[in-house]
Amino acid sequence: MDKLPLVVLISGRGSNLKAIIDAADPLVEIRAVISNRPKAPGLAYAQQAGIATEVLDHTEFESRTAFESALKTRIDFYQAKLVVLAGFMRILSPAFVAHYQGCLINIHPSLLPAFKGLDTHKRAIAAGVKEHGASVHFVTEDLDAGPVIIQARVPVYSNDDENSLAARVLKEEHRIYPQAIHWFAEGRLELKQNLALLDGKLIDRRKDNGNG
Ligand code: GAR
Repeated sequence: MDKLPLVVLISGRGSNLKAIIDAADPLVEIRAVISNRPKAPGLAYAQQAGIATEVLDHTEFESRTAFESALKTRIDFYQAKLVVLAGFMRILSPAFVAHYQGCLINIHPSLLPAFKGLDTHKRAIAAGVKEHGASVHFVTEDLDAGPVIIQARVPVYSNDDENSLAARVLKEEHRIYPQAIHWFAEGRLELKQNLALLDGKLIDRRKDNGNG
């Protein structure tokens, strides 16, 4: 089976990138890591692994369109068949998302559709939920609302704070993101009519305990 060429987009710490690198999936070839922030610590993980890195500083572009046009050029240079957002904190335009429809995935630290957006752990604690988690999803035009591929659930304890809960969720993120990428590389995962399908069957996240 051919290796799946992918490009990972980051903005910061890069722990999900590291998890994807460490998974060393034989079906996956990380062709490049692109950061929109020059000082993103995560770039070092790619460099240590001998993966090409690029910085496209969004503040140096005069518009979102110009930034995304440059980003698209670089992604397409690497002939990526999957674009992986791993803590990439720029909102992407509908045109960009449409261009990569079905081959653009993201990880979000909540059990979507709950807690879209920022500060998910803080908001989960404030809401008093008993369960929280992370979701890998196909990116569609609606922010953090694309069809879910895999979720991992964690308990929320009464003595949790934002940091303890974030750490519990992050550990699960590092497990489910490589899993989702592996399914894609195996050719088992697809986006069809705005639904996520695994082996041609609708992924029912209500039954998904995150163990594949
Ligand atoms: C992760 O928790 C990821 O789920 C979140 O940013 C963090 C990046 O960490 N992404 C979002 O909130 C996207 N809406 P990392 O840089 O260590 O992978």
